[in-house]
Amino acid sequence: MRRYVIAGNWKMNKTFTEADDFISDISEFIDDNEEFMDDVEVLIFPPSLYLELATDYTDSTEIFIGAQDVSSHESGAYTGEISAEMLNSMETLFCLVGHSERRKYHYETDEMVNAKVKQLLKNSISPIICIGETEKERAENKTDEVILKQLKGAFEGIDFDEDTDIYLAYEPVWAIGTGKTATPQMAQEVHALIRKWIKERFNEKISNDMPILYGGSVKPENIKILLEQEDIDGALIGGASLITEKFKAMITTAIELKK
Ligand code: 13P
Repeated sequence: MRRYVIAGNWKMNKTFTEADDFISDISEFIDDNEEFMDDVEVLIFPPSLYLELATDYTDSTEIFIGAQDVSSHESGAYTGEISAEMLNSMETLFCLVGHSERRKYHYETDEMVNAKVKQLLKNSISPIICIGETEKERAENKTDEVILKQLKGAFEGIDFDEDTDIYLAYEPVWAIGTGKTATPQMAQEVHALIRKWIKERFNEKISNDMPILYGGSVKPENIKILLEQEDIDGALIGGASLITEKFKAMITTAIELKK
């Protein structure tokens, strides 16, 4: 049985003090709910500047910290970039890859996503690979084609051994930050397609074990029905993850569903 994953992607938000207040508050909440954390995994993706702060807090708490991006290169003259080895040296356990905002504003291609996944796996960091179609692609009935192309590109040359840990996040681009959520049926359809592809590319065990999160305007009001779908194992939340009360409410919903 897969557990739920509730993940907050802060994107480019919060000052150091705001980040400090948020993590301290959430850590206390998670400590109070520690007994449920075998069923619900909580991840936070702060800006990389705050990784040390966040990791320090969560050393003794059941919250896991991840970076929002990583360089596709190993090391060297890449001003402004952060390598997977550096993230590993900061005890970062997860990293988002291929978020649609990186694809759109930083021209990230499937090849770059694949190179990033390889860098992360080499440094024992679990990639959370984000995929999703644009509004135009959905309107043109190209959703499946786009999803399969992104999957194929991201997993090029990737093999699983017993330590390989990869998550996926289906984030329809048109649902990100727009208030428009995919209907639970729409999301479930794509999640099932993803799981089927993983099964065919790897095997049934890997596809059954792989967490597939949904992202795109998830909030306390709609998370329950999304989590109730068979192949939706959690949520990757942007805007609503920035407010402690909302983030706690969504973790609580996941806990309640597992009871
Ligand atoms: P919103 O929840 O703000 O739509 O963002 C989703 C997202 O992009 C998470 O990575």
